[in-house]
Formats: sequence, C-alpha cells, structure tokens
Amino acid sequence: MEPQTIAYEKGIVRLLDQTRLPLEEKYLDCRSVDELIDAIRRLVVRGAPAIGVAAAYGVVLAVDRGIAAAAGSPRKDLPAAIESLRAARPTAVNLGWALDRMARLLDQGEADGSALRAALLAEAEAIHEEDRDLCRRMGEHGAKLLPDRATVLIPCNTGFLATGGMGTALAVVYTAHAQGKQIRVFADETRPLLQGARLTAWELERAGIEVHLLADGAAGWLLATQKIDAVFIGGDRIAGNGDVANKIGSYPLAVLARRHGVPFYVVAPYSTLDRSLEDGSQIAIELRDPSEVHHALGQRLAPEGVGGYNPAFDVTPAELVSGIITEQGVFRAPYRRAFAAAYGG
Ligand code: MRU
Repeated sequence: MEPQTIAYEKGIVRLLDQTRLPLEEKYLDCRSVDELIDAIRRLVVRGAPAIGVAAAYGVVLAVDRGIAAAAGSPRKDLPAAIESLRAARPTAVNLGWALDRMARLLDQGEADGSALRAALLAEAEAIHEEDRDLCRRMGEHGAKLLPDRATVLIPCNTGFLATGGMGTALAVVYTAHAQGKQIRVFADETRPLLQGARLTAWELERAGIEVHLLADGAAGWLLATQKIDAVFIGGDRIAGNGDVANKIGSYPLAVLARRHGVPFYVVAPYSTLDRSLEDGSQIAIELRDPSEVHHALGQRLAPEGVGGYNPAFDVTPAELVSGIITEQGVFRAPYRRAFAAAYGG
C-alpha cells in the first residue's frame, strides 16, 4: 500500500508525520494555515512537490476559516494566507508554483463563499492529481535509462513521501522494479535530518526493493570501487540554464560522479523549473537552524558552544548534469534551448 502522505478532508489537512518515521506512523491534522506552515517548516511534510500540494490545500483551510468566521468576505484574508504559505520555505519553487495556481482563481473573480471554496478545493485536488501523473511519466522516461540489472545511488528522499505521487528519482526505481528489472539502490543517509536513512530506506523496504544505506561521506569510495550505473537526484528549483538546487550533498555527488564517469541525472517535473532565473546563483538557499547539525534524532552530539553551518540545499552546475528527466522526456544540454523547445518561451 502506498503511504498516504497528504490528504484533505472536511477542513483538515492530514499529513503523515515524516519527523516520526520510521519509528512511528502517525498523522498530524492541520486545521489552520498557521499549523500547516509550522508543519512545512518542521518537515512534517517535505519534498518540493509535496509541499506545493500541501500548501494548495492550505489555501482551502484559509477559505474554510473565512467562511466559518462569517464576518465580511471569506476572500479577504486569502492573499495574506497565500503569502505566508509561500514564505514557509524559500528554495523549492513548487511551493510558489502551486500557490500561484490557487491565487489565479482569486483573480478570476469566483464568487465568495461556497462557490469560491469549491473552486479552490477543485484546484488543490487537480494539483495533487496532476503530480501523481507527472511522477508516473517521469518514472517511465527514467526507467528506460536503466539496464535489466542496475545499481543506482540516490540521496535524500524523492519518493511517495516527497511528492503527490510515487516520486521523482524514486519513481524511476519503482517503475523499473515494476517492469521486472533488478534494481539495487544505495541510499545516502543525508545528514543532518536523515531523509535517506529514515524515509528512503523505509519506502524501499516496504516496496521490497533492495536498499543499502551509506554514510554521506562514503559515496566517493562507493563510486570509486563499485559499478554504479547512475546517480539520480530530485530537484527543488532548476534555473533556466539547467543549474539544479537540491538537497545538500547533491553537488559533491555530481562532482564525484563526473570524476568516476557515472551518469548524473536529475528527475523533476515542470513545476520545479524556474526559467525566470538565469542561473543557479540566483536561487535562494534555505539556511536552517544549526542545532540540526549538533543533534541527531533529538540527541545532542556536539559539545555545547560550537558553531554550526546548515544549508538545506546546494546548487549543482548544469555542466555536471548528464540529463534532466521531466514528464516530457530526457533533456540534454544546452538546457535553456531544450526547455524552450518543450515548454515554449
Ligand atoms: O528538505 P527536504 O527534505 O524538503 O528536501 C527534499 C529534497 O531536496 C528533494 O530531493 C527534492 O525536494 C526533490 S524530490 C521531490
């Protein structure tokens, strides 16, 4: 059974609490925009497409509250709610992309009250449903790149937990596995928050796919000494030239992959493209609380008083990327021209 990462029902956004996995499968119910923003910041829900889907349902929470308050127009507080959801995390463009879709309905002037609510809920559900389809299509394109027996290296979590569907990079694995290919995954543990160890290992083990966990620092030796067919990562924001912001540690993997002649693929839907940016230097990188580095699973590791550095993402230059797999196929450099041919502009 697929994990139910995000669901909306009767005024509640229900999130599978990813901070508690794999020890506990608990759900967190968000009844207000503030609760949802807090959940996004704490990574109860995380992964670029997943936070877009969750935020879209958050706009429905805001209109629900406006209708319940019944004072004035339920539409009045929506622009502010959308802007505070947008500010929850800065790097993944899917968040702003989903909120822009929701905001467009306000501009289109749907009536207040239940008609507006119905339109917003239908749009949030459409974003969720579309993401399922995008994941499926990325998986199909990516799986064609893998031989019948393949070993891949994947950082962070890029599966059901990170999207509205089966994932980005992990969709490639799930699809190839469903096609009968024998896929072995090496999963980077992904410090400081251990998305690889806690989430990817949990997903793949449930799915019956062979997974081996490694410390992030072991990736170089793995690539130097074992036959790895490809590295696959997801993306949080891809600039017009193909530079890719993704989970911290992706950039060193790209350098290592190039050093050892291993293809390095990015798997991301069109909602992760930000062609308004010339290159990756314009991408805002989220700096998180250094205490996440001082601790592991709630336990302090470092002595009191030491400093810390905790960027949540890094930027891999396009020149290190072998291909970007979207729902439309596998794009190769020069990316600006390839994106324009597929998506216009
Ligand atoms: O900080 P997180 O866990 O939200 O970071 C997630 C990633 O970096 C993923 O690789 C990315 O969102 C793309 S895969 C859906």
